[in-house]
Amino acid sequence: MMLEVKNVYISYKKTGNRFKKEKLNVINGVSFSIRAGECVGLVGESGSGKSTLSRLILGIEKADQGSILIEGKEVSNWIKANKGQMSVVFQDYTSSANPRYKVSDVIGELLHAFGKKEGIKDKVESLIEKVGLPLSIASRYPHELSGGQLQRVCIARAISANPKLLVLDEAISSLDVSTQSQIMELIYNLKDSMNMTILFIAHDLQAVTHLCDRVMFLQNGQIIEQVASSNLSEVQNEYAQRLLHSVIQFNA
Ligand SMILES: Nc1ncnc2c1ncn2[C@@H]1O[C@H](COP(=O)(O)OP(=O)(O)OP(=O)(O)O)[C@@H](O)[C@H]1O
Ligand SMILES: [Mg+2]
Repeated sequence: MMLEVKNVYISYKKTGNRFKKEKLNVINGVSFSIRAGECVGLVGESGSGKSTLSRLILGIEKADQGSILIEGKEVSNWIKANKGQMSVVFQDYTSSANPRYKVSDVIGELLHAFGKKEGIKDKVESLIEKVGLPLSIASRYPHELSGGQLQRVCIARAISANPKLLVLDEAISSLDVSTQSQIMELIYNLKDSMNMTILFIAHDLQAVTHLCDRVMFLQNGQIIEQVASSNLSEVQNEYAQRLLHSVIQFNA
């Protein structure tokens, strides 16, 4: 298995009341696994715990209980042994790219940090082409790009070290509809050509089912249902059905 999440819990202290020690249970016993090469979607309404779960998987936070294994190893150990092999694209592309870096340095960041030092310039140029940008963009700064262009830059950086596992957390959500579909197309093509395992987190169920083999529904920090994208009509859970129907109504 590429990724195994086993009975994971995390809670945060509720802020605002310093006398009561109330806890907010954000992830409540989540278990799932993803095979190598699989592309899995995670959907759920705002606040259901999607980003928290992605931070746990990325090793940015530690679970209170349970375990997260990547290729059979505990996540922080795996990361140490596989530098740059798990990467992430966030929704907020503007704060994801260092404003003082030129585009070529943003894209080359992981290569400089983890990779061989020679050949970085060529590698960066091929990444720029791979994500459908003109080479002339290399010497520009992030604020000189459109949102869609900057998100392509973030994607180029994320795939620079040939990650085994790529997490996309609302990576298309801040873009306008036509740019969203272009970026979806890019991710779709990269998925086919790069043999990555992908966890695709999104509000947009339609985007998820277009891209992913399987969809997991998260509600109040629990996976309430999982279904193959080809079997969406078999969804049993009421909440998951509601998410599905909201898409259908939107299209009608
Ligand atoms: N570090 C933290 N401290 C306290 N509460 C937190 C923290 N991180 C997340 N939360 C809370 O956990 C809950 C889940 O947040 P999370 O960001 O995981 O949701 P989400 O599903 O990603 O939502 P969205 O779709 O809006 O991105 C929210 O109620 C949030 O306020
Ligand atoms: Mg989120």
